[in-house]
Amino acid sequence: MKLYVFSFFAVTSCRVFALQLPAEFQKCSRSDPKINECLKPAIEKALQVMGKGIPEFKLESIQPITVTNMTIGEGKGAVRVVQNYQNCQLFNIPSAKIVDVSAIVAENQFNINVTYSLKEAIMVSHYKLNGRILLLSIVGEGECTIKLCNLKVPSQLIGKVSNKKGDKHLEITTNKVELKVDKVKFDFKNLFNGNPKLGPEMNRILNENWKEVFEDVKCAYEDALGAILKNVGNLIFRKVPYDDLFLP
Ligand SMILES: *[C@@H]1O[C@H](CO)[C@@H](O)[C@H](O)[C@H]1NC(C)=O
Ligand SMILES: *[C@@H]1O[C@H](CO)[C@@H](O)[C@H](O)[C@H]1NC(C)=O
Repeated sequence: MKLYVFSFFAVTSCRVFALQLPAEFQKCSRSDPKINECLKPAIEKALQVMGKGIPEFKLESIQPITVTNMTIGEGKGAVRVVQNYQNCQLFNIPSAKIVDVSAIVAENQFNINVTYSLKEAIMVSHYKLNGRILLLSIVGEGECTIKLCNLKVPSQLIGKVSNKKGDKHLEITTNKVELKVDKVKFDFKNLFNGNPKLGPEMNRILNENWKEVFEDVKCAYEDALGAILKNVGNLIFRKVPYDDLFLP
């Protein structure tokens, strides 16, 4: 299963190194024995702040997160089609709740397991498909909406703390996420060149068999989301010294 995620949103990334974390962020201390409890609301708050965007960081709002070009490769079962998405917008990340945190945050070690929960994540995109799903041929290009309902996202963040010009900085190197969903709803407009019978019929079949369809390429979506969230986190971590993010 292959995945290509190119250029997330275009950040004017002038490399400013020592910005202060905006005051709305809640900070946690590395020496706090209850750091897990501290991080829970802090991460929720950080996502909300990023939902509005942070002009002083030249950080655009993550509501939505835009991915300019994303390709989800073929699966091994039901999904025998390469899915290409362009100008893909992912909505609702800022309203995620944190259900669980387990963190090791030390001077030279950073490892946080977070489980997010989200009522509905919505992806709106331009799509291109040409292949087979559930043995049926599927061809089309147009707008689509994919809704992931009642999401639980356990994730494993691993970072590297490095010293740059005297300031310690954190870089997330790995963000492994898992997607647990109650249901996926597909709506591909303009399938089969807008054929008014075949298009709605195909959407009906996809929705009836959502589990089989989603499971087959789930890990590609997981890799994409992991890469997107890693990128978003690093936009902040790159600019704020580690000791200012996680007080000694
Ligand atoms: C999107 O990515 C695919 C896969 O690498 C590539 O073939 C295609 O040309 C890209 N499209 C655009 C518009 O960049
Ligand atoms: C995160 O989860 C992984 C896998 O279960 C585990 O090996 C690791 O120790 C956990 N890290 C923390 C900080 O809890």
